[in-house]
Amino acid sequence: MQVGLEKIVVLGTGGTIAGTASAASDSRNYRAAQLPVSELLAGLPLPGGCEVLSEQVAQVDSKDMDLGVWQQLLQRCVHWLAQSEVRGLVITHGTDTLEETAYLLQAVLAPRKPVVLTCAMRPATALDADGPQNLRDALAVAASGADAQGVVAVCAGRILGAADVQKVHSWRLDAFSAGDAGDIGQVRHGRIERWRDWPPALLPRETMLEALLTARALPRVEIVLSHAAACGATVDALLDPALAARHGATPVRGLVLAGTGGGTVHHELEAALRRAQGAGVRVLRTTRCVDGLLQPRADEEFAAAPLTPVKARLALMLELLVS
Ligand code: SIN
Repeated sequence: MQVGLEKIVVLGTGGTIAGTASAASDSRNYRAAQLPVSELLAGLPLPGGCEVLSEQVAQVDSKDMDLGVWQQLLQRCVHWLAQSEVRGLVITHGTDTLEETAYLLQAVLAPRKPVVLTCAMRPATALDADGPQNLRDALAVAASGADAQGVVAVCAGRILGAADVQKVHSWRLDAFSAGDAGDIGQVRHGRIERWRDWPPALLPRETMLEALLTARALPRVEIVLSHAAACGATVDALLDPALAARHGATPVRGLVLAGTGGGTVHHELEAALRRAQGAGVRVLRTTRCVDGLLQPRADEEFAAAPLTPVKARLALMLELLVS
């Protein structure tokens, strides 16, 4: 470690950005989470004026993200963010659940320094890998100066806020959207152009970090999708304690409805959700539409959340964890 220089710390968690295939021409058949983060940084032009350190926190395909990895990541973020010489963090992550980790980190930490998640849609071995440029852009954002703060995602030159970012494409390099909120800005040739404020704090978080770091399990919250010809038995099955016990699962404490359009719900599901709420299960309503998040109203039977279903699920789990 060089004395006196500010530091950017890159935390590796896996993903396609660390993935390998057997041929450079193959971007399709590969294994995610193979290369150490130190190797992703090797040979990369680094931002001037700071030292870049790296640490391998996990090595997972982010479809398998779980509480244990989140706890390790949170611990390392807390550790590094507390060091005065650390200017910001970069986290390499799989694209598939990047938006969930981003939301969780912002909800629990709301850091006063930048925490930048980045990723890739093509493995590191690909001739036309996108990871190196994304990583350079993420380092540029983390190093960008005094006012940068909060958790953002950087991919394909775009800077997206933790509450807004969502993977919307399964194979394009520009796979993310910030929906109606819009991007925070962009990275063009290493320079940051910012159009919106850095991400705001999301939830009251006095006790959340401690609760999350010490939790042995997250409160169980499931997502229920409303669609044509839906069946209420799905909800009843989720609430069956004997079925949960048989699978070693804890009882469901919350349900997030991914409703149609403006958060509407098939009448069969609606009746089942009413039974669930009557039995003490928290029900949150969201829309399955990609854009046009719901606006909560005071008089609704099922409270609406202005979040995507996966983020509403996290918000409810965190709330249940500390209630
Ligand atoms: C993952 O999410 O870890 C694999 C897919 C990806 O990073 O694009």
